Amino acid sequence: MANTAFTDDQMRDTQGLVFSGYGAFPYCSYYLLQIKDPNKARSWIKRLVDEKITPGEPDKALRKQTGALNIALTAAGLSELGVNTGSFEQAFQEGMQSRSRATILGDQGKNASTAWLWGSDDKPVHILLMLFSVDEKTHSKSQKEEETAFKQGGVVLIKDLERFDTTNLNEEKGREHFGFADGVSNPLVEGFSSPTETGSGNEQAPRVIPTGEFILGYPNGYDGKVTKVPGEETLKDEEKFGFNGTYLVLRQLEQDVQTFWTFIRNEAKKQKIDQDYLAAKIVGRWKNGAVVKPDETKPPQITDADMALRNQFDFRDDYDGKGCPFGSHIRRTNPRGQGLGIEQKVENGQLTQASVETSLKVANRHRILRRGRSYGAFIENPLKENISGERGLFFICLNANIERQFEFIQHTWVNSLKFNGLYDEDDPLIGTYASANPGFKRSFTLPEDPLRRKVCDFQEFVKLRGGGYFFLPGIKALRMIGG
Ligand code: HEM
Repeated sequence: MANTAFTDDQMRDTQGLVFSGYGAFPYCSYYLLQIKDPNKARSWIKRLVDEKITPGEPDKALRKQTGALNIALTAAGLSELGVNTGSFEQAFQEGMQSRSRATILGDQGKNASTAWLWGSDDKPVHILLMLFSVDEKTHSKSQKEEETAFKQGGVVLIKDLERFDTTNLNEEKGREHFGFADGVSNPLVEGFSSPTETGSGNEQAPRVIPTGEFILGYPNGYDGKVTKVPGEETLKDEEKFGFNGTYLVLRQLEQDVQTFWTFIRNEAKKQKIDQDYLAAKIVGRWKNGAVVKPDETKPPQITDADMALRNQFDFRDDYDGKGCPFGSHIRRTNPRGQGLGIEQKVENGQLTQASVETSLKVANRHRILRRGRSYGAFIENPLKENISGERGLFFICLNANIERQFEFIQHTWVNSLKFNGLYDEDDPLIGTYASANPGFKRSFTLPEDPLRRKVCDFQEFVKLRGGGYFFLPGIKALRMIGG
């Protein structure tokens, strides 16, 4: 693999969110902002870069902060501030709300941008400001400071998504609202992930994804070249605006927890199987984060350090999906060593090393760094409690090429009805094909012995409330904006 020579200085020139989801800071606010006065906004950004923005910190021992602040901008936001967006990726220029991207993403029907709370053409967003803090007191203080600063900085709030406290979701390893461990698998990235970090190990033989898949300016994993760095064409890559920046995808996904668990309970009863077993098959992991292995009917006991069960697998010993179904959420979003349309060889009950290698090469061209957080109150027992209020996931992912990474996963894997030989099935956890295509009946297949099990008339559990494509600039680029 090409050596990216990603240096400590380059890390300090990159915003910290690239390297960390800031798990040590459970309090978080996302601010969606519009620029009203570009001159004032530039001065505000200049002050932020000088005093507040959190860069990557190579030496973790030096990290003594009580919080973090990062900033990302849409194409419209960059234009308002005088940045020419002509050399940015087309998907970013068009925006997630555009008709062309909506067609690729399947954002139709109840998920169409016309129904969004923010991010549509008539509710455009320019800036995403992300504030993280170690405790409530620090967070309230930082919120006041940042809110005063951006109001004076010619920038207004579109919709305050409120401060949301994720500590109640942090039981064990952090659970999302359906009750599953979240933040388990992320790519191991050349130049900055440590193989011992929870969540960064990956396949049975952990492998490293090139830095250029997640930060612009370095060789990528697709063809070993540098993905186009946006900026003035005459400059060297390191001098361009896009250097050490990345694209940030944000989707506010509301989760209907009660419908999910009611559907699972009723269907499990009908099929005479355990409800946690059915739910685990949908995700591809048990609630505790362990991948579902063939012949398992109950979750294994695992510890946080147990990487083999959480991440070091590549489906070579589950090539027919009898543990983790082909259609499950994690097998669709990262098929690992299982071939997709590639001829595969099985010997002694396992995929051969050569088959796994070929498949991994393909799957690893479509990886994302997930950095999102849950919002809304957690429900301990969705089948008993009276539920009110909205809850869901602010899905955030980082990638150097939106079209080849995030959009490919959503379009070709999550929404595909024929994924890996399946028929009339989209992602059982997050698929929305049926609401975009009235009359379509979703199903979900669990390969089992002696016959596969099929769950029909699958309901939908997730709704898109807003979204956008942002750019997370490097520190030097933020200074260029500030002038
Ligand atoms: C409300 C919406 C969603 C929920 C509740 C959800 C839930 C989960 C859970 C429980 C896991 C397994 C634990 C983990 O590795 O963190 C997971 C993994 C993952 N999800 Fe989602 N997810 C959602 C949306 C999405 C979207 C929109 C995408 C991308 C289009 C996505 C991509 C992934 C990926 C890439 C993985 C890791 C797969 C692996 O490497 O094993 N998720 N998700």
